[in-house]
Amino acid sequence: MSCVKDIKIEHKKEIERIIRVDHAGELGAINIYKSQLLISKYLYKDIVPELNEMLTHEKEHFETFDNLLKKRSTRTCYALWFWAFGGFLLGLLTALMGRNAIWVCTNAIETTVLHHLTWQLSYLNEHDKEAYDAVYSIKSDEEAHQSIGATRGSNTFMYKPIFFIVKTSTKVAIWLSTKL
Ligand SMILES: [Fe+2]
Ligand SMILES: [Fe+2]
Repeated sequence: MSCVKDIKIEHKKEIERIIRVDHAGELGAINIYKSQLLISKYLYKDIVPELNEMLTHEKEHFETFDNLLKKRSTRTCYALWFWAFGGFLLGLLTALMGRNAIWVCTNAIETTVLHHLTWQLSYLNEHDKEAYDAVYSIKSDEEAHQSIGATRGSNTFMYKPIFFIVKTSTKVAIWLSTKL
């Protein structure tokens, strides 16, 4: 492990991409929960406290990566608006499909995110202790979100397409953001 100034140039670019994508992803997550809350406040009041708690986590995660980008004078993702708008739209559509779709959406996103975090952590553990700590700090919250989504939502036959679509779009958004 090394401090920031000792990081080799070839790793520096990859590490910047990792922090940038995570920062953008957290903005997406914030907007998903915001739009799901907008609908849930009227239609599914019982799940509002859980959604609010997860929104609080995502705001903290966003701050963690935002502070790290600022500290390192690293630019944000060019597609930040896409994450914000896409997240809001995804949250809105799933909420309109019902409370089960909200949980299936959470499960699908966090499954993809956790897979991604595992790779990031193994890479950062070798090359950047500070960025490793930042990514590691969000892991237990994301695991808890995935578990809530998996427990509260039933991923039955008619919900499998929602799971698949959300999982695939999250993967595409992550991939696209590593280019932007
Ligand atoms: Fe998060
Ligand atoms: Fe999350």
